[in-house]
Amino acid sequence: MCGIVGFTGKQQAAPILLEGLEKLEYRGYDSAGLAISDGERVNVVKCMGRLAALREKSNNGKSVAGCVGIGHTRWATHGRPSDENSHPHVSENGRIAIVHNGIIENYAQIKEMLINRGRVFKSETDTEVAAQLIDYYYEGSILEAVAKASRELEGSYALGIICADEPETIVGLKSHAPLIVAYGEEGNFFASDVMAVVKYTKTVSYLEDDEIAVVTDKDIKFYTSFLDEIKKEKVTVDWDISSTDKGGYEHYMFKEIMEQPEAVKRTIAPYIIDGRAELSSVLDKAYINSLSRIYIVACGSSYHVGVIAKYNIEKLARVPVEVVLASEFRYCDPIVDKSTLVICISQSGETADTLEAQNEAKRLGALTLAIVNVEGSSIAKSADKVIYTKAGPEIAVATTKAYSTQLAVTILIALYVAECRGTIAAEEYAEIMRQLDVLPVTLEKILADKANIQRLAYQHFNNEDLFFIGRNIDYALSLEGSLKLKEISYIHSEAYPAGELKHGTISLVVDNMLVIAVASYGKLVDKTLSNALEVKARGAHVMGITTDSLRSHVEKATDEIITIPDAHDVLLPSLAVLPLQLFAYYVALYRGCDIDKPRNLAKSVTVE
Ligand code: F6R
Repeated sequence: MCGIVGFTGKQQAAPILLEGLEKLEYRGYDSAGLAISDGERVNVVKCMGRLAALREKSNNGKSVAGCVGIGHTRWATHGRPSDENSHPHVSENGRIAIVHNGIIENYAQIKEMLINRGRVFKSETDTEVAAQLIDYYYEGSILEAVAKASRELEGSYALGIICADEPETIVGLKSHAPLIVAYGEEGNFFASDVMAVVKYTKTVSYLEDDEIAVVTDKDIKFYTSFLDEIKKEKVTVDWDISSTDKGGYEHYMFKEIMEQPEAVKRTIAPYIIDGRAELSSVLDKAYINSLSRIYIVACGSSYHVGVIAKYNIEKLARVPVEVVLASEFRYCDPIVDKSTLVICISQSGETADTLEAQNEAKRLGALTLAIVNVEGSSIAKSADKVIYTKAGPEIAVATTKAYSTQLAVTILIALYVAECRGTIAAEEYAEIMRQLDVLPVTLEKILADKANIQRLAYQHFNNEDLFFIGRNIDYALSLEGSLKLKEISYIHSEAYPAGELKHGTISLVVDNMLVIAVASYGKLVDKTLSNALEVKARGAHVMGITTDSLRSHVEKATDEIITIPDAHDVLLPSLAVLPLQLFAYYVALYRGCDIDKPRNLAKSVTVE
């Protein structure tokens, strides 16, 4: 969602901040702004719309001179997108400017207190309240003023602050929203994620809740809200700058689709030892044997990974698995105790609902395992155990490579738990491991066949309504195929368990409607094909997705076909997701959509 970046150094700050904000565009935003200190005053420029509008308004940053500043991209939650509501917000006297991610929950009480003491407000925002509060406490030390204010502010927020009277310093504060500081050669930074600064430095420190960072050109100091100085570890991040550009492709999403074989390979390699899924460093064998149930908790595509994982884990390891949307888990009074493993899946590691669900699971006594892509993220830090997916930075809003790496991790978990509990035959285990080993090569082969999918996308990009159907893992995968298509192409689609169509939904099927039947799971392929024939009989046009060996069989019940190589059942969704991602991509391309930044969506959803 919103993005923060701050810089203090020897170069002009505005161009560096604009560049940093561009790297945060992927998080989603609807307005942007800068506050730059020129040594005497803090000058603010901000506007609604894309960063190009801010560039134009600030003459590429030249209209706000100075080497110290803060910048922001805002994704509206409270208050519509407008120039006025854009950040930074300033205190009444113009001394303090702040940028803010998150929500200050008790802003109304603080505002009332400040109004009673004569302060006048320009906007309705909680951010202006924080700026005024810091200014109210300012008596010559920005650190002390921020510390006092931080003891009053409630909610989840990250703040970047600049003060006209201390023109060399920027201050960061965080509470339940991410903020890092970064050590550059020619200046120092803070940012809401590493992406904004990785061009300048890979050395960062992660702020914990209620910690304050005082950042100057020369050093970075950390304090508690009671002003005790603290030391923080410096960490080197392994993301490089090339992973934050498009690498010659037209869209990040396409680049990320093509990166999947490598990403999966990097993710699973550390956990495959001597041909075995080796997770004992993460989950103790005795613990696995004492398990009574697994919950998988996540949102969106990460949740869809969980739905496939449920089928796979239950099939191989015979442990009951519940998959629950994180936003529901928190409030559904889940039956969780110390014999329950709660697996939280998240690309960003910052999804508010998933983080809170994980905290709830911990509170109830479960062991929590996070499958996360972003190192040092909140979900990774607060989980008992972590497995990192090694997808690298994912910039397109619609997830692809993170999904595939998450899915691969869940297959390792299914195998490991099955082996620990003795529920899998040696031959089957060996066969899945063999196929897992060559999975990256298989994915490459599927991607090489993209022309066929592009052709089908061209035929169908004008549809406004369609269904994805399937059974078992094919249904679970349909959920992701449908989400991919709707989020980037704005076509309405629904994923339906094929057998459930007759119970109401088939009334929506009309002449020429496209129905995508995922029919890769051999055991149930005939059942799915019967359902495909039912919709065909009502005028639908059916596209089948199946395996090479089932091709001739599936062809009989469909109008056109996409095939993937044969594979063990647990691996089929890992293969079949690629054509679905490509189909969504090409359809959105032909419809002229903003593929990497679909309307209304944010990459990292840090509010409930
Ligand atoms: C869809 C998509 C979202 C995310 C969801 C969870 O393409 O990316 O549905 O999967 O917002 O985000 P994370 O995985 O960061 O917790």
